[in-house]
Amino acid sequence: MLDIEQSDALIAYLRASSHIAPVETPVIHNLAGGVSNRTVLVERENGEAWVMKQALEKLRVQVDWFSSTARIHREAAGLRWMQATVPDYAPPLVFEDETEHLLAMIAVPQPHINWKTQLLQGVVNRAYVAQFGWLLGSIQRLSLEHEGTADLFTDRGFFETLRLEPYYSYAASQVAAAAPFIHTLIEDTRARRLTLVHGDYSPKNVLVYDDRLILLDYEVIHWGDPAFDPGFSLTHFLSKAHALPEHRATFASAANTYWASYWDEVAALPFAAGLEARAIRHTLACLLARVAGRSPLEYLNADQRAHQQAVVVNLMTAAPDTIAELIGQFAALI
Ligand SMILES: Nc1ncnc2c1ncn2[C@@H]1O[C@H](COP(=O)(O)OP(=O)(O)O)[C@@H](O)[C@H]1O
Ligand SMILES: [Mg+2]
Repeated sequence: MLDIEQSDALIAYLRASSHIAPVETPVIHNLAGGVSNRTVLVERENGEAWVMKQALEKLRVQVDWFSSTARIHREAAGLRWMQATVPDYAPPLVFEDETEHLLAMIAVPQPHINWKTQLLQGVVNRAYVAQFGWLLGSIQRLSLEHEGTADLFTDRGFFETLRLEPYYSYAASQVAAAAPFIHTLIEDTRARRLTLVHGDYSPKNVLVYDDRLILLDYEVIHWGDPAFDPGFSLTHFLSKAHALPEHRATFASAANTYWASYWDEVAALPFAAGLEARAIRHTLACLLARVAGRSPLEYLNADQRAHQQAVVVNLMTAAPDTIAELIGQFAALI
C-alpha cells in the first residue's frame, strides 16, 4: 500500500501511473495539520503545484477513531461539485485514484494563510467573516438549483462516523446532563435531507488567498440538515471568543456578522422556517462536542473546557430564541 508521505515511493507512483513523466522529479513537502489524512505538496518541474491527499484508516487523535479510506472519493465528488458551481472558492481536482484512495488537487498558490491561524492571532477581518457566511449560504442555495446534487451526496455514512458519533453521541455519553438534548438533535438531524452540507465548515479548512476564501476538506459532505454547518462554524467564533478574552467582543461581533451574511443568502429558501432555532441547537451541541467529544479544541485548556461545558449545559436547559441572543449570552457567561 502506497504511503504518500514517503517521497521516493510517491515519485515512483506518480511516474508509474503516468501522472508525471518518467524523467520528472518533483519537489515533495509533507504538510502537517490534518488528523484524518496524509497531505503532501508536490511542486512540479513545469511550475504547477498539487496537493495530494490520502485518507488514513485510523485517525491521528488520542482516542481510537477509525473511518473507511473510501471517504477520499466523497471528497473528490465535493471538489468537482464546487468546481462546477462556485469554482473560485475551492481547489480544482487534478485526479483521483480508486485503488490507492488518494486524490490530487491544484495547490492554492502562495502567499496564502490558513484562516484559523490568522484568527488565533486576533486578526479578525470583517470582509472574510462576511464572505464565509455568504459562501455557506451560496452553497446551500445553489445546491437546490444545481440538478442532481441530492443524488450525488445521498450517503451519510461518513457524516455518521466522523460527526454524529464522535462529536454528538460521544459528548452525550460523557455529559449525562446534555444527553437528552443531544440525542433529540441527532434524531432531528437524521430526519432532515434538505440541502448540501459541508460538515467541516471551519476556519481551519479555509485558506485565504488574494482576499478570497478557498474552502477545503470535503470528506463528510452530504445531503442533510442546513442548520448543521452554521452551528458547527459559529462554534469556532464563539470558542475563540472564549480562548482570547482580549478579543472577545470582536469575535462575538464577528459571529453576528457571519450569521447575518449567511442569513441574507438563505432567508428566502424553502427550508428557512425553523432554521435559526435548529442552528442554535447545533451551535450548543458543537460547543459542547468541541470540549467533551472525541476531537476537543486544542486551544482550550482543561479548565477552559470544563468551564465551556458548564456554560453550555446551562444554556441547553433554556436555549435562547435567536442567534444574536445566543452569542450575547455565551459571551457574557463565558
Ligand atoms: N489545495 C491545497 N492547497 C494548499 N494547501 C492545502 C490544500 N489542500 C490542503 N492543504 C493544506 O493541508 C491541510 C490539510 O488539508 P485538509 O484538506 O484540511 O485535510 P484534513 O482532512 O486532514 O484536515 C490544510 O489545512 C492546508 O494547510
Ligand atoms: Mg482539514
